[in-house]
Amino acid sequence: MSALSAMTASSVSAPSGKGRVLIVGATGFIGRFVAEASISSGRPTYLLVRPGTSGCPSKSNVVKVLQDKGAMILHGLVNDKELMEKLLRDYEIEIVISAVGGKNLLDQLNLVEAIKAVGTIKRFLPSEFGHDVDKADPVEPGLQMYVEKRRARRLVEESGIPYTYICCNSIAAWPYFDNTHPSEVLPPLDRFQIYGDGSVKAYFVAGTDIGKYTMKTVDDVHTLNKTVHFRPSCNYSNINELALLWEKKIGRTLPRVTVTEDVLLAAAAENRIPESIVASFTHDIFIKGCQINFSIDGPGEVEVCELYPEDSFRTLDECFEEFLDKIKENIGGVKEEENMDREGMVAPNPAVEIGPIAITA
Ligand SMILES: NC(=O)c1ccc[n+]([C@@H]2O[C@H](COP(=O)([O-])OP(=O)(O)OC[C@H]3O[C@@H](n4cnc5c(N)ncnc54)[C@H](OP(=O)(O)O)[C@@H]3O)[C@@H](O)[C@H]2O)c1
Repeated sequence: MSALSAMTASSVSAPSGKGRVLIVGATGFIGRFVAEASISSGRPTYLLVRPGTSGCPSKSNVVKVLQDKGAMILHGLVNDKELMEKLLRDYEIEIVISAVGGKNLLDQLNLVEAIKAVGTIKRFLPSEFGHDVDKADPVEPGLQMYVEKRRARRLVEESGIPYTYICCNSIAAWPYFDNTHPSEVLPPLDRFQIYGDGSVKAYFVAGTDIGKYTMKTVDDVHTLNKTVHFRPSCNYSNINELALLWEKKIGRTLPRVTVTEDVLLAAAAENRIPESIVASFTHDIFIKGCQINFSIDGPGEVEVCELYPEDSFRTLDECFEEFLDKIKENIGGVKEEENMDREGMVAPNPAVEIGPIAITA
């Protein structure tokens, strides 16, 4: 399908106050949460999908699910400036959200140029969805990713494009130091790896809440040209507390193994991509405290719970309960396809036998 064959701009009328949204990266981990939330919010939602996605069954399935829910699919590459200009104009896009992955962050620079040339975009959210990259200073190779995110930020600011930076901190899950998307892996059943003394706190946010709150910010005047920090007090936890919570869920205790700062730094120094990037972020979060070692009272910063006090976050307790349900499904033999469940969730350590687990309420 050609980019422009999807739908003409005039065939969709935007409800008042619900500007048309273009999401780049909806087939990715974070982008899918954002796309689901955009569709649920009732906004006309366009997804830029890379050509060739149909050759990948899991990705084309994601596209189909989102399309069935009402998303409109456009094909192209975000680094194709001319195409992006055309799409933004032809589809009268007002809000652009990028969730390209770490490997493609610089592809966004052409998108920024296109947004600048079009001149009618009311809000741009570049691919952030993590830490405040102007404040955090991880070791390499994680630093390189932040250098690229900073570069996108500076170009956006110099171009005078209205923006919002989403700093949602960690995804709610067991924070494996070698897994890019830890919420796709169940918490451990054999032993806990505790970073340092396990006392440094962080904020954990469910993927659905990353999507939901991101969409709340996109036309909120209070988030215009601001960094939005996600600091839900209910999910402010250290790894010792996460371990206790998981033990309560599975009804038994697990041994703890200390992963020292030196081990994390050595894993980062191996420069295996993406594992070493995750190791450098793990060091930054759980040793250096990069999520909590700065205040957010500057003029360019807002906190999401203060903005939307009427809404509540999914708690870590609820997220871990869901992980427990997945394990019960696996044990119950609902579906045991190798080590993967029906939503593609991977058992923490396929070599470890699951059980016995005393399931607690
Ligand atoms: N807070 C957290 O815990 C957390 C966790 C993970 C990621 N993040 C952040 O979230 C952001 C997204 O990362 P992710 O891991 O979700 O990424 P991802 O899973 O790798 O997905 C990247 C998406 O971008 C698309 N894409 C890449 N290059 C493109 C291009 N040139 N044109 C069009 N589409 C393109 C990919 O399309 P294809 O499907 O065709 O490849 C895919 O849909 C990053 O900034 C990352 O740092 C945060």
